[in-house]
Amino acid sequence: MLIKDIIHKLNEQLNLECYSANMYLQMSAWCSDNRFKGSAAFLKEHSKAEMQHMQRLFNYISDSCALPLLGHIAEPPVKFESLTDVFQQTYAHEQLISRNINALVHAAITVHDYPTFNFLQWYVVEQQEEEKIFKSVLDNFYLIGNNENSLFFIDNDLKKMAHACCKENG
Ligand SMILES: [Fe+2]
Ligand SMILES: [Fe+2]
Repeated sequence: MLIKDIIHKLNEQLNLECYSANMYLQMSAWCSDNRFKGSAAFLKEHSKAEMQHMQRLFNYISDSCALPLLGHIAEPPVKFESLTDVFQQTYAHEQLISRNINALVHAAITVHDYPTFNFLQWYVVEQQEEEKIFKSVLDNFYLIGNNENSLFFIDNDLKKMAHACCKENG
C-alpha cells in the first residue's frame, strides 16, 4: 500500500509527463511550421515516449490500489526564437525532470517505500539517457554553428534519430 504523500507525488509526476508529451508535440508543430522536418519528426517521436512514461506511472499507481489522477495540464510554450532555442528548452526541461525524479526517489526512500524506490529506478536510468541525447543535440549547434547549412545537417541528423526512436516506440 502506498502512503498518501507518495501517491500525491507520483500523480504530480504523472501530470508532468503529460505536460512533457504536450510540450514536445507543440515544439514539433513549430518545427514543421518552420520547415525543420527532421526535428519535427524527432520531437513527435519523443512526445510518444513521454506518453509511455505517463502510462507507466498510471499503471503503477493503479496496480498499487491507488487512484491515478489526471489534473489540469499547463499550456506549453508556442513561440520559439530559433531551432537552437527549441533545443535549449528541451535540455533545460529534461534537467528539471531529472531533479523531480531524484526528489521522488528521495521521498520514497525516506518513508521506506521500497517498491516505489524500485519502480523509480527505471526513470533514473531513462533521465540519464534523455539528458545525454538532448545535450548531444545541443552540442551540435555549438560545434557546427547556426547558419542555414548547419541547420540543414542538424535537422537531417534528427531525422535519422527519429527513425531510430520510431522503431523503439513502435
Ligand atoms: Fe519523461
Ligand atoms: Fe523526457
